[in-house]
Amino acid sequence: MANNDLIIDYDDGDIETNPSTGPSLQDLVDQRYSRRQALRGGASTAAVAVFGGSLLAACDDKVQGIDNTPPVVGGTSSGATSGGRVVTLTGTVTDDNAIVSQAFTQVAGPTVALSNANTGAATFIAPAVSTNTNLVFRYAATDVKGATSTTDITVAVAPPTLGFTAVGRSLADTVVIPTGYTASVIYRLGDPLSSATPAFANDGTDTGYSNRAGDHHDGMSYFGLAASGNTRDANNSTRGLLVMNHENISEQYLHVAGVTAGATRVTSEVVKEMECHGVSVVEVTRASNGSWSYVQNSSFNRRITPYTPTAFSGPVKGSPLLFTAYSPDGTTGRGTINNCANGHMPWGTYMTCEENWAGYYRRDAGDNAVRTALIGAKSTQAFTRYGLSQRTGNYAWTTAAEATPGATLIRKFNATIDQTQPVNGTGDFRNEPNQYGWCVEIDPYDPASTPRKRTALGRMNHEGCCPGRAIAGVRPAFYMGDDAQNEYIYKFVSNTPWVAADATASDRLAIGDKYLDNGTLYVAKFNADGSGEWIALVFGQNGLTATNALYPFADQADVLTHCRLAGDAVGATRMDRPEWTAVNPATGEMYCTLTNNSSRAPGNVDAANPRSYIDPRINGTRSTGNANGHIVRLREAGDTTEATRFTWDVYAFGAGADLDPTNINLSGLDATNDFSSPDGLWFGSPTNASGQVTPVLWIQTDDGAYTDVTNCMMLAAMPGSVGDGGTRTITNTGVSATSTATTRIGKAPGTALRRFLVGPVQCEITGIESTPDGRSLFVNIQHPGEGGTFSAPTSNWPPLPASGSTTISATATVTAGTRPRSATIVITRTDGGVVAL
Ligand code: FEO
Ligand code: CA
Ligand code: CA
Ligand code: CA
Repeated sequence: MANNDLIIDYDDGDIETNPSTGPSLQDLVDQRYSRRQALRGGASTAAVAVFGGSLLAACDDKVQGIDNTPPVVGGTSSGATSGGRVVTLTGTVTDDNAIVSQAFTQVAGPTVALSNANTGAATFIAPAVSTNTNLVFRYAATDVKGATSTTDITVAVAPPTLGFTAVGRSLADTVVIPTGYTASVIYRLGDPLSSATPAFANDGTDTGYSNRAGDHHDGMSYFGLAASGNTRDANNSTRGLLVMNHENISEQYLHVAGVTAGATRVTSEVVKEMECHGVSVVEVTRASNGSWSYVQNSSFNRRITPYTPTAFSGPVKGSPLLFTAYSPDGTTGRGTINNCANGHMPWGTYMTCEENWAGYYRRDAGDNAVRTALIGAKSTQAFTRYGLSQRTGNYAWTTAAEATPGATLIRKFNATIDQTQPVNGTGDFRNEPNQYGWCVEIDPYDPASTPRKRTALGRMNHEGCCPGRAIAGVRPAFYMGDDAQNEYIYKFVSNTPWVAADATASDRLAIGDKYLDNGTLYVAKFNADGSGEWIALVFGQNGLTATNALYPFADQADVLTHCRLAGDAVGATRMDRPEWTAVNPATGEMYCTLTNNSSRAPGNVDAANPRSYIDPRINGTRSTGNANGHIVRLREAGDTTEATRFTWDVYAFGAGADLDPTNINLSGLDATNDFSSPDGLWFGSPTNASGQVTPVLWIQTDDGAYTDVTNCMMLAAMPGSVGDGGTRTITNTGVSATSTATTRIGKAPGTALRRFLVGPVQCEITGIESTPDGRSLFVNIQHPGEGGTFSAPTSNWPPLPASGSTTISATATVTAGTRPRSATIVITRTDGGVVAL
């Protein structure tokens, strides 16, 4: 019977279904209306009016509450799309009665999260599909009488692809980003990290940097926090901790009128400069309007400086090589310095990596001779191999008096042997340089935790430490570059197979102990035929013994503290300055930037470092080398992190687009993607479409060879895989020699490599990680205006906040005369989609 329409269409499940013996029509109407109120929080006035009107109408079906005119619905989408992009579903409805509900539900395809599903316009982010896939959504509208109509909307989704138009080269003092994106400045040098710290004046008068952002923002990771409280939620994309390195300083901008002249440094200036180094932990939040800011008074905020107590962990802990007056048993230390790139450990910790630490040490003339006489020739040999020459030390810090008499915060940077002290180093700082050059693990969620120096990962100019894919039951690997000319690429493989539950454990540094203190450090050898091998740096193996002709290794602590010498001894391949490493989350392939190498001569090229040429832009000096750098990649045998063999090729060679395509611009770069001196490197996270199927590779530059044409930049790529190109033989023509080299080169990147961002004058682009949803991308702008002076800055970036606003556009006009500041920016798509796609 007709009344069943009402019952069947309105499906709250507890309406009487037998009107013949049930309540009167008015009872039904009353009952239904009251339930609607309960269910929907009250009907609208209009709905009541229409409902009442129908009851008063003539004796047709409507009078009896029977709706013979269900809603007329239509549905459309914003159209065919690809992974990571925002799709809008629009429902339309007309009806003779009021519409009381409408909703979208998904009926086919990979499940997506619908926003505003109970409105007439829902949105979702298209999933990363591997082949063209239809997603089907059902739009349903129900009128006040319970009649429901539906329609299905099909959305065709293609695999992810780069979705922005490349930006041009730029020499402007601003940040350039593609159309459709926004970039905001959120954390600048000097920004206060506690409520008690005054605002930053930026005129050289500021002090108290242990409670302010440091200088030279570098490697950076994002660690999610729960929406409220102090607990971890790795998947939260609206509240988290940014942890970043402060690699170095632009000394000229830190003091009122530059560095105070004189034979000795002013202590307060030295303290300030030291405190500007280290690491920041800073809470950041996204407001409901989408804007990001840092939280000045967060209890998580922390600065780690060259003073912060640290603990040694792993095989070198307790070695006499680490004995100092501060740590007579070699188990503890103070601070970290020249922190360059980083690693985001799968268990929620941050790895900061000590790069150019050697330059900070003072060694007086004659120390080599004394060292050789007292400790032995190998001590001097090791210091020399690590660049610890007899020199004043960076910024002449040790010429300053201690702030507190008797303290050794400054003294520790003088490694000159005091011959009145014990030869084992417990009375001075002769061994202090051995306390640096490590990967240092920090638990960002515990501000009271002590950073741990992970000695099993070796001592070098650590650029970064990228974990390979963490796969249950497989021993995880951590890839590392040693950034100096002709140094090596390393991998540490844990002894402990990965346990997935460790990713969410609460005692994160103990998980670090579990995976990082016991394992094997390997060094890479690249063969000309495209194969390669990981050579174990284990005392007693591969000639690493006390009788080694190059260097007599005493034990595993000696091997790890001097892994450069171990690499020399086993014949590792000398690379063109290994910088960041990054692992493709879909394939496991490892990429490493080789930024440049001015000492690569035509006579010493090899297959993996095949270029040596005269850079036409280095004015007058006519030097030879690999001025523009390249990016090497490798695929582990069996695609496992445990492998000891691999295959390799060069993903891309940096070059100006105008350079010789036969021997220099080998990857066919053009105006949309030419770059020089790749450094920062990061793959999109597998938690969103930018890290799935065809993950996005981000490349950042730290260049000095192409900066007459463009400032440093960031590019996005969708690379292929090892072996997708072929071989190429290059003729290297240098100033005084010519040679050929045959290399393995990947498929030309073409439009799958595009320039995404160009930074302000004299900056480096570095540091990168997104929120887990990929919709907010954090990037660091390091040392804008590094070549200027306090009285004549060469950059005035970042811009000042607009009047009455706390938001700072990274792309706004700068104010002349303003001292430049390193800063973190956050980049979002204006439509809310995944960045780059
Ligand atoms: Fe700090 Fe190798 O760049
Ligand atoms: Ca109707
Ligand atoms: Ca770097
Ligand atoms: Ca660099």
